[in-house]
Amino acid sequence: PWRGENGETVYLRRDTGILGEISRVRPEDMEPGSMETVFPYIESQRGDDEALLHAQRASDAPVMLIRLRPDTPTVKRQGQENFNYGDFYAFSKVCTHLGCPTSLYQAQDNRILCPCHQSQFLATEYARPVFGPATRALPQLPITVDSEGYFVARSDFIEAVGPAFWERRP
Ligand code: FES
Repeated sequence: PWRGENGETVYLRRDTGILGEISRVRPEDMEPGSMETVFPYIESQRGDDEALLHAQRASDAPVMLIRLRPDTPTVKRQGQENFNYGDFYAFSKVCTHLGCPTSLYQAQDNRILCPCHQSQFLATEYARPVFGPATRALPQLPITVDSEGYFVARSDFIEAVGPAFWERRP
């Protein structure tokens, strides 16, 4: 769902817990050292609960949008262009170990934690695993902001989301 059909813009929509409530995210909405859970959203879904639910329930939908503290050193993944927007980084929330939702971002050491088997991923180093059973980095979603200042996906994930044993769709 992060690839808008017919060139539609895919926004990052805040998880407010209320299906019909559309809350798009702007950089100034987030404090340094904070995290938001976001889902893909396109304007044609407004008022269409079924479409919103479908987009939200897709296996690759949940994303963790992180704002690092200013001047935090980061390491770029080898051979990969920058997918971040300034201090903002978006990673899949689906743990690459067995698919649990990673739920916590620890700003003091920039770690993303999965509660299921305690895997930890480093947000400053393309979410590569640094502790626990996960062996693959959390896929990163390329992001930017549109002309109105809202976060949008620049493209879909460029690698498969979730554990390796999940069935891959083309
Ligand atoms: Fe995340 Fe196992 S599913 S550590």
